[in-house]
Amino acid sequence: MAIDNLVETIIFAPKKVNQMTSRTVAELLSEKQTQIDIEVKGWVRTFRANRFIALNDGSTINNIQCVVDFENFEEATLKRITTGAAVHIKGTLVESQGKGQSVEIQVNSIEILGDSDPETYPIQPKKHSFEFLRENAHLRTRTNTFSAVMRLRSSLSFAIHKYFNENGFYYMHTPIITGSDAEGAGEMFRVSALDAKNPPLKDDGTVDYSKDFFGKETNLTVSGQLEAETYAMSLGKVYTFGPTFRAENSNTSRHLAEFWMIEPEVAFMDIHGNMDLAEDFMKSVIGYVLENNKEDLEFLEQRLIQEDKSKPQAERSEMSLTDKLRFVVDNNFKRVTYTEAIDILRNSKPNKKKKFNYIIEEWGADLQSEHERYLVEKHFNCPVILYDYPANIKAFYMRLNEDGKTVRAMDILFPGIGEIVGGSQREERLDVLKQKMAALDIPEEELWWYLDLRKYGTAVHSGFGLGFERLVMFATGMTNIRDVIPYPRTPQNAEF
Ligand code: 4AD
Ligand code: MG
Repeated sequence: MAIDNLVETIIFAPKKVNQMTSRTVAELLSEKQTQIDIEVKGWVRTFRANRFIALNDGSTINNIQCVVDFENFEEATLKRITTGAAVHIKGTLVESQGKGQSVEIQVNSIEILGDSDPETYPIQPKKHSFEFLRENAHLRTRTNTFSAVMRLRSSLSFAIHKYFNENGFYYMHTPIITGSDAEGAGEMFRVSALDAKNPPLKDDGTVDYSKDFFGKETNLTVSGQLEAETYAMSLGKVYTFGPTFRAENSNTSRHLAEFWMIEPEVAFMDIHGNMDLAEDFMKSVIGYVLENNKEDLEFLEQRLIQEDKSKPQAERSEMSLTDKLRFVVDNNFKRVTYTEAIDILRNSKPNKKKKFNYIIEEWGADLQSEHERYLVEKHFNCPVILYDYPANIKAFYMRLNEDGKTVRAMDILFPGIGEIVGGSQREERLDVLKQKMAALDIPEEELWWYLDLRKYGTAVHSGFGLGFERLVMFATGMTNIRDVIPYPRTPQNAEF
């Protein structure tokens, strides 16, 4: 009996506490009951006419209006209600007198939790450039645009875990520090505990990494794929979702040195199953935010409409943000081989008129983002899955086709983004994989465990990698990848 009571107290006590303390702005704005006493904490967005506080706490894009009867407050307190200040408000929730909101707060008391200096506070209630806000990335989520983007980022992340969880995948954590170069591109950040000024040297004068922390050369991972393959070959369906690092010196609006990647890997699935999975997955996560992030999407859509007005007619988008997302969810992705794509590109107007920076002449050319975007935005006008690429422009682990010159690679290309997903069926034949590694000078000792998978119970398997920030760009309509990750890492920039 006594124990039963105890359990009850433990379970119900936190709820009571919650009701007594402050509520979020989102909760209050959807509250049906008025004339109730409430408390709320947040940051002042604006304070108008010594009377109206627009308060935001991050729980929603919307502010709650708090009405102050200035006669009841001391001048000194009113002066401290400035943009950016943190406040604790107690008052009565009432039906709103003004337009634009259903409820507002009649303020009974205000406690200033943290002052803000209106002279120096960077986030003034006016339009700021994204460049300026990048320099103030620690405060930029106090703006509507960045709070909406980051709420969407959080929501997409949840939708991804939800999708895999509901489809029988196990979430695995692949290592961040590795000794192998999964993509074979050599664009890695070294991880070392050696004294940079005075490292131990070998007889030939090169650094002796056998004396380093791990007893060998190590780097930050460029992809969790190879380790994910090992788990797919025992657990069946797995995925990783973690940070990946690339030291490629490309200062573009679509590349980060540190980005997050989602990599599912599935045993007994071929390239076509891989395309089906990727398409279903992309539609599901985009569908999730269409359903669950309506207010933030509506705000970002309006932002884009305003931005478009300042552009020449030809550069304006034909579809609104939500139409664009809906279009991806409702339409089949076009599946095209690399060879077909090369034919289309070779005969395209920009190729013939030499408008592309890289003119497509021969089969075998690597596609640049200008070509990918032509295919998606001009030719097909829908998301495209390109597959069966030339072997020599793709990574060593991809399954060689019977023609001996193409591999079962697949890239998904999205409007406005270009490549968003890269994946493949993996080479499961030991002899073929060994030949490929030898041809590319990849030492077998480094990947002995990867080769083991082909020795013991090998099977067809496939997977892909989705660049998370590119997905967030697509879902929010943001055009610079630096604006969809909290603290971007790019060449010459690791502030915050
Ligand atoms: O095409 P990638 O290089 O493929 C892989 O890493 C495979 N191991 C994935 C797999 O099959 N498991 O990268 C996958 C995706 C790209 O399509 C792109 O969306 C994103 O990762 N990506 C980047 N995103 C931001 N900044 C960068 N520097 C990126 N490099 C790749
Ligand atoms: Mg790729």
